[in-house]
Amino acid sequence: MKGTFPVGKLTSAKTPLYYYDTQLLRNTLSEINREAGKYGYQVHYAVKANANGRLLSIIREHGLGADCVSGGEIPASLKAGFPAEKIVFAGVGKADWEMDLGLDADIFCFNVESVPELEVLNERAAAKGKVARVALRINPNVDAHTHHYITTGLNENKFGISLAHLDAVLDRFASLKNVRLVGLHFHIGSQITDMDAFKSLCIRINEIQEQMYQRMLIVDVINVGGGLGVDYENPDRNAIPDFRHYFETFHKHLKLRPKQELHFELGRAVVCQCGSLLTKVLYVKEGVNKKFVIVDAGMTDLIRPALYQAYHKIENITSDEPVQEYDVVGPICESSDCFGKMVALNGTRRGDWIALRSAGAYGEIMASQYNCRNLPGCCFSDELV
Ligand code: LLP
Repeated sequence: MKGTFPVGKLTSAKTPLYYYDTQLLRNTLSEINREAGKYGYQVHYAVKANANGRLLSIIREHGLGADCVSGGEIPASLKAGFPAEKIVFAGVGKADWEMDLGLDADIFCFNVESVPELEVLNERAAAKGKVARVALRINPNVDAHTHHYITTGLNENKFGISLAHLDAVLDRFASLKNVRLVGLHFHIGSQITDMDAFKSLCIRINEIQEQMYQRMLIVDVINVGGGLGVDYENPDRNAIPDFRHYFETFHKHLKLRPKQELHFELGRAVVCQCGSLLTKVLYVKEGVNKKFVIVDAGMTDLIRPALYQAYHKIENITSDEPVQEYDVVGPICESSDCFGKMVALNGTRRGDWIALRSAGAYGEIMASQYNCRNLPGCCFSDELV
């Protein structure tokens, strides 16, 4: 055993595999409940970050709701025991069958992103004799200062209804009998570590609430989405994100109306640090002026470095040899199949175990079978003791 990884108990396990520290997940969830509980805030878990059934069950046990973005995530959440009244359904392109699924399950609300979507939802609900609860997703045009692929709240992004169209959309509600406005929804991006971005969001929401108030409109729920980032550089030192500061930012800057509820949709901050991708070294190869560590995991198992140039801390968890520098690469036939360049690792040999840290969010769920590869396996710390 080195660090927190029970390698001795894993030697016969097939790699690559996702290892989840379930105790860390539980501690993270307790911290969320403690900090959000101070203000009566409700947190929905963004299922897109990781839909592993075991993790979903643990998250549900801690009382969080579920934020779904597809007709696949709704049944996955229901199966894990999330009550329908704590499920929200978002996404710019909901198909008719997906809306039907949400209506049949009687989920809490649909986060609607356009007028045509609102009209179709109204039709589908009418056909079932139901009234769908709706939160309008507003594009607040607030810069999250994060990677351009994961920023979502700017006018140039495809998400949400632009502020300029808000009045017209609110007018449209009056003539649609099978949708009811219950909330406003926002999400400005992901992996946000600067609380000022959330402060700007709060200030924008305050303005929008004023605009709505002019029309005598007060919604029941404000949903500010997710986006709280994690420390990829120091997964041990900062294993649990700073939820205190995060929720406090909203408490300080957001003006809620009496009885208005505040909802969140956190994904990464909940599950990221509890997961690591474990992989075995196949070969150490001499290159020109460098050494390659070729591991059995590839971009099919963890695509974030290839897709977003994302950093994941890499450790050799079975070697205490003096540190050397290596490029750590996978076996896929793509040059972008590289987990890190010039990585300082303990002296590495064939058969060693490598951990790619902070891989609990957008890791296993984004795995693919490109090259006809198998999907990665998974194991849980509490099953190994
Ligand atoms: N709510 C909405 C409407 C979202 O679009 C997202 C994430 C979340 C909540 C959860 O955000 P979080 O708390 O996890 O930041 N695959 C990318 C991240 C994509 C995020 C997409 N939307 C990555 O690996 O970094």
